[in-house]
Amino acid sequence: MDQGANRWDGLLTGVAVATLEGDAGYGLVEDAALGWRDGLLAYVGPRASLPADATADAHYEADGGLVTPALVDCHTHLVFAGDRAREFEMRLQGESYEAIARAGGGILSTVRAVRAASEDALFEQSMPRARALLDDGVATLEIKSGYGLDFDNERKLLRVARRIGEALGVTVRTTYLAAHALPPEFAGRAEDYITAGIDWLAQLHAEGLVDAVDAFCEGIGFSPAQTRRMFAAARAHGLPVKLHADQLSDLGGASLVAEYGGLSADHVEHTAEAGVRAMAAAGSVAVLLPGAFHVLRETKMPPLERLRAHGVPMAVATDCNPGTSPLLSLRQAMQLACSHFRLTPEEALRGATVHAARALGLEDRGVLRVGLRADFAHWRVREPAALGYWLGGDLCAAVFSGGNQVA
Ligand code: NIG
Ligand code: FE
Repeated sequence: MDQGANRWDGLLTGVAVATLEGDAGYGLVEDAALGWRDGLLAYVGPRASLPADATADAHYEADGGLVTPALVDCHTHLVFAGDRAREFEMRLQGESYEAIARAGGGILSTVRAVRAASEDALFEQSMPRARALLDDGVATLEIKSGYGLDFDNERKLLRVARRIGEALGVTVRTTYLAAHALPPEFAGRAEDYITAGIDWLAQLHAEGLVDAVDAFCEGIGFSPAQTRRMFAAARAHGLPVKLHADQLSDLGGASLVAEYGGLSADHVEHTAEAGVRAMAAAGSVAVLLPGAFHVLRETKMPPLERLRAHGVPMAVATDCNPGTSPLLSLRQAMQLACSHFRLTPEEALRGATVHAARALGLEDRGVLRVGLRADFAHWRVREPAALGYWLGGDLCAAVFSGGNQVA
């Protein structure tokens, strides 16, 4: 058998490729070829420049279309039980998200449903959501805990997240979000709850279930001081942090997470100039979540111009969750980011690939380059801008993760 350097596992031709190489532009290659071996890209470039001896075990000759890096959904809460459509109705009738949460609905209603569900039931309910994301181009996704709020149930959520990654053959990064809401058994004892959450973190990290730590720093969540306690624990374990920052009010969340060298500050609608500067200095990514903005019918825009001016990388994610963002397509999140936040389609695509990978601390994907992971999506469109344009539709022809087709 030929063991030559240009014998690959797979070769795709008949497509245009948007590599996203460099800081700007799509890196478009017309009439391109993509070769991969052992899960990594071995060739990305014009078909006409393929090495003369290039061969592959599997040669896919496509009839047109566009290949991009596979999408990376860097902020989801997609493992949950139950449904909160009734709360959406209440909000449309004038109730606020905060008022529903304070009355024991909101996050706590999902906590009740999660606690009542077996691990297998949670897995069965959550798998179709992950499947839907894959079917629209995703090959890496982050999944947060935060609907268990006790040791056994936080563990159950993180175990289900890991199982989903194994079952679908894609990368799942888990984030520990016990500091999401105060469970009823700790009512009036938020400091004690943080102490308990720090203890659970040590155990769950020892089980290999945690890749990063997050908190909901908000009037209806946890204070900056409580968030700091959780982040100090994360740091002691060598775990990176990220934060639900400045979504409903400005508590200085972006500055706080930047102070810990955080991977990202997420939402950031109310982030002021100082927070943007701090993120730029720390190299933290701003994760924009237009699904929650859209569904909550928010009007306060994230500080787009400031983020651009300070060179803060902007990611786009679904925030898939039952309360504020019942969104099962990252491509649709890209569209919402363009329509609501006026991202350019190019910013939206970079936000759902290269910058999203950075928001997860992953440097081996998000761009199509020889030596990086063979994670790519093949679309039934020709213009890269079309990915930030269409609402819905069946645009994704195939998704590969580490050189294996997963959708
Ligand atoms: O990202 N802000 C807090 N967490 C979620 C909402 C969770 C929920 O309402 O269930 C968010 O929007
Ligand atoms: Fe969220």
